[in-house]
Amino acid sequence: MTGARDGAEGAAGYGPAVDPRAVRTVACVGAGVIGGGWAAHYLARGYRVTAWDPAPGAEERLRAVVDAAWPALERLGLAEGASRDRLDFAPSLAAAVSGADVVQESAPERLELKRALLAEIDAAAPPHVVVCSSTSGYGMSEMQGDAAVPGRLVVGHPFNPPYLVPLVEVAGGEATEPWAVAWAAEFYRAAGKAVITLDRELPGFVGNRIQEAAWREALHMVANGEATVEQIDLAMTAGPGLRWAFHGPCLTFHLAGGEGGMAHMLDHFGPSLEAPWTRLAAPELTPELRAAMVEGTAAAAAGRPVAELVAQRDRRLIAVMRALAEVEAEEAREAAAADAAAAPGAGGGAAR
Ligand SMILES: NC(=O)c1ccc[n+]([C@@H]2O[C@H](COP(=O)([O-])OP(=O)(O)OC[C@H]3O[C@@H](n4cnc5c(N)ncnc54)[C@H](O)[C@@H]3O)[C@@H](O)[C@H]2O)c1
Repeated sequence: MTGARDGAEGAAGYGPAVDPRAVRTVACVGAGVIGGGWAAHYLARGYRVTAWDPAPGAEERLRAVVDAAWPALERLGLAEGASRDRLDFAPSLAAAVSGADVVQESAPERLELKRALLAEIDAAAPPHVVVCSSTSGYGMSEMQGDAAVPGRLVVGHPFNPPYLVPLVEVAGGEATEPWAVAWAAEFYRAAGKAVITLDRELPGFVGNRIQEAAWREALHMVANGEATVEQIDLAMTAGPGLRWAFHGPCLTFHLAGGEGGMAHMLDHFGPSLEAPWTRLAAPELTPELRAAMVEGTAAAAAGRPVAELVAQRDRRLIAVMRALAEVEAEEAREAAAADAAAAPGAGGGAAR
């Protein structure tokens, strides 16, 4: 692909060939829940997608994932030229990646498989093309060792579904070159994502660390018979979950301190962090706990199949995002009006 060279060359003599804002073709390697979701996202943003997945029936499943996501993406608004016709299922890994401007790997979360696959992708993709892994937990240092050009290998960790949830966490490994991390972050921003770039390898990244803490507590409460699945989900969706959609846990607690803000909050409630509310160690996943989680969740789903729940989730996510966008636009209009009123010459041009 053509495009302006962007940034400095890496130590190995390679640098990006394509400006991250000029990417046209994305290769999606591994096309399950996340790879299929990525494909839907990139197609909706107007990119061409070449996908590859070795499983029998993978193309059919991929197209079904994209078709299921498309109504939500249409409601959100497609980019100019966006079309499901721009999805090609390649006959081989090499065919998928050799003409792509960037590669998104979303294969199963198994270290040996990831290491071998990233080396294979590395051998087939032109050396200036950045390769991003969707891994939920491995550091790139663990995965990049067998690649000939490890400097362009980066973690680009999404949240499910990648076609709606904006966050991507970007991190390099020990052998990753800084240009590749910067390029990936810029590419994801251009593709409409909200990006956190980590300056080190952080097990679990940021989003999963927070999510897992809540998840551990939920499992402990079910294991101890302290709360049901239904109570836990309602406690979050009718409680902190609503605020976390826009303020996050830190700003939320800043407000819990009243006028005194976070400082008062910490002085007031800090000592209770020592109280035995939380149980940071993970509970043992006994067969009883597993059964309680599965049965409780089945009761909460009340017979609704996963596809129906996914469609419901997508509509609700869009509703929350639209509501937030509306409030933010209103605030921007109010701020602009306040600036105009405060500007010299406002109020009838008396200062002219
Ligand atoms: N599911 C999530 O919520 C989530 C969220 C963020 C990141 N991730 C990460 O995304 C990656 C994919 O997870 P998933 O949930 O989509 O799993 P999945 O099982 O739904 O999909 C994996 C796909 O990879 C294919 N595959 C198997 N061997 C392969 C190979 N050698 N090369 C290429 N593809 C191969 C499988 O056929 C399957 O279609 C994992 O690294 C996971 O940690 C998952």
